[in-house]
Amino acid sequence: MKGLLLSGGRGTRLRPITHTSAKQLVPVANKPVLFYGIEALRDAGITDIGIIVGDTQEEIRRACGDGARFGVKLTYIHQAEPLGLAHAVLTAREYLADSDFVMYLGDNLIISGIKELVHKYQTEKSNAMVLLARVPNPNQFGVAELKDGKVFRLVEKPKEPKSDLALVGVYMFDKLVMKAASSIQPSARGELEITDAIQWLVDQGHRVNPHIVTGWWKDTGKLEDMLEANRMILATMERRIAGSVDAASCLEDKVVIEEGAQIVNSTIRGPAIIGRNTRIENSYVGPFTSIYYNCLVRSSEIEHSILLEESKVLDIRRRIEDSLIGKNVTISRSPARPKALRFMLGDNSSVGVS
Ligand code: TTP
Repeated sequence: MKGLLLSGGRGTRLRPITHTSAKQLVPVANKPVLFYGIEALRDAGITDIGIIVGDTQEEIRRACGDGARFGVKLTYIHQAEPLGLAHAVLTAREYLADSDFVMYLGDNLIISGIKELVHKYQTEKSNAMVLLARVPNPNQFGVAELKDGKVFRLVEKPKEPKSDLALVGVYMFDKLVMKAASSIQPSARGELEITDAIQWLVDQGHRVNPHIVTGWWKDTGKLEDMLEANRMILATMERRIAGSVDAASCLEDKVVIEEGAQIVNSTIRGPAIIGRNTRIENSYVGPFTSIYYNCLVRSSEIEHSILLEESKVLDIRRRIEDSLIGKNVTISRSPARPKALRFMLGDNSSVGVS
């Protein structure tokens, strides 16, 4: 059985981060989201994995390499344009050949992994299996309706949902899905939808089984979800101190200080992680915060946030909260007069000032 990990797409909901980088490489608890997907596939026994890549392919290749560090073999498959999840399946036709496969959306996190699902698919032997989760707001998801233990209808973001079972970003298919994906037409948004391909399978009398996840999962495609995923993963981490912490600093609860990090005269209240070679000086880092590598936080307070690599937060008197700060960003006090807020922000940025 093969894996197909989707790491192309446009990432419009996570702009401006995605103007310059792949959303699948945004770190959750200092590890790119995509790595959780690779590890989930590997832990389910799937080591032959194709990665669909688009415009950000160079960055993804650099981050993941040939897969040896994860104990898997990665094959990169370029999708010229993000024309939908079913289009991604068609793009991988040659790689997949006639193999059964797991399709895993590269920006999804499933805390319980996918072992159980893969095992169930292999023993039940249906033509497809979809992973579903009960949600309070099904009108924001693809929703499945079940009958006699099988999927009989899938509706994308229904106005009046007939069930609360949302599609989670993992699917299992046999080779019939190729026929399904080549038989459907693009949707109103111009994409070949995987929901339409699965509906085609159902309509042709093929068997599509559901598997309902009870554990926590998240599509990290937008800011609030990214912060929530960060919160959930940080909560599962164990305390580990590899960097240096001076006598004037205080580490409370579950804190990870990675190699080469320096904590000077600061309080870190976990769960929180401070990345490699990052320096925290005269500052407070609050719960549910991940600070990536080579950052500097000086005389500032930050909590419930993610700070990407090489960024600096300097002498900010107000506490920073609920924020996703990109790579190589500097937030600092300006001595210039007249006193004013001064910004240089990329397109689609959003700043809240009170
Ligand atoms: P989505 O999050 O549904 O789409 P997107 O990445 O274009 O994001 P947005 O809606 O914010 O513009 O995609 C789910 C995953 O599948 C994500 O990891 C990107 C990937 N993908 C592809 O690889 N190819 C595609 O054609 C599409 C649509 C998505």
